[in-house]
Amino acid sequence: MNAQSQPTDPRPLDTRFQPRHALVTGANRGLGLECTRQLAAAGVTVFLCARRLVDARNAAADLGALAGAIHPLALDVLDPDAATKAAAAVAGITGGELDLLVNNAGIYPDAGREVTRLGPDELEQTLRTNVAGNHRVLLAMSPLLRAAGDARVVQVSSRRGSLALRLDADDRLLDHQGPGYSTSKAALNMLSLAWAAAFDSTGVRLAIVSPGWCRTDMGGDDAELSAEQGARIILEAVDQPHGSFTGGGEPIPW
Ligand SMILES: NC(=O)c1ccc[n+]([C@@H]2O[C@H](COP(=O)([O-])OP(=O)(O)OC[C@H]3O[C@@H](n4cnc5c(N)ncnc54)[C@H](OP(=O)(O)O)[C@@H]3O)[C@@H](O)[C@H]2O)c1
Repeated sequence: MNAQSQPTDPRPLDTRFQPRHALVTGANRGLGLECTRQLAAAGVTVFLCARRLVDARNAAADLGALAGAIHPLALDVLDPDAATKAAAAVAGITGGELDLLVNNAGIYPDAGREVTRLGPDELEQTLRTNVAGNHRVLLAMSPLLRAAGDARVVQVSSRRGSLALRLDADDRLLDHQGPGYSTSKAALNMLSLAWAAAFDSTGVRLAIVSPGWCRTDMGGDDAELSAEQGARIILEAVDQPHGSFTGGGEPIPW
């Protein structure tokens, strides 16, 4: 058993909002895979999305007995058509609705580097994936979310997207490392507030969450939290207020 799969937090998922059908992007590994596992274990039908269908299928198969509750789907957030195709596949199975979207896929290519060593193409790729890709998924899934009547969106962001923490001399994020990633998450937060406003008069509630520093390929082996703990923080955000930015149930300054 590796560090990512150690059962550090074996409590069953216990949220006030109880989804029936959830879609998780970037779910073939890391926090997305662990969200999928926890949702399926709680009896939720999960659409496990990965860039490549083969990776989605393999990840579902690796979940063993839980695989019966999982539908693997191809969803590369950079592909202009993939999210609409995935939405059509979801609609075919659920009858046209989706009551939880975990918008999780992301990249962090400039980890540990300062801004003078950030290439413009690398910055563009990060913004395309973490911001435009996230937006593409919301555009495709919002009709299904609205149709569900009572639905949740969890936008997986990061404390690194907080301008307030960046300006706080006492906060460790003042290191200014990973500026492309941080810029993308700050932009994602603003985009998410626009989506929250768009959902205001609907039954869709949107929460922005930072999972904390977690032991995944992105977070590395030295991170504070297991993937299991980070995924729980993501999923428990379904009970956080509409338009909030939190981590572990606590508000994060914008
Ligand atoms: N780990 C942390 O400490 C931490 C802290 C704060 C926030 N977060 C956020 O949490 C989320 C998940 O992070 P993680 O730690 O699980 O990262 P990870 O282990 O690197 O996994 C990232 C996932 O995103 C997928 N992905 C990347 N580009 C994609 C694309 N174009 N289309 C669809 N999927 C794509 C990857 O797919 P492939 O396998 O195909 O590459 C993978 O499934 C990210 O949004 C991240 O910013 C993580």
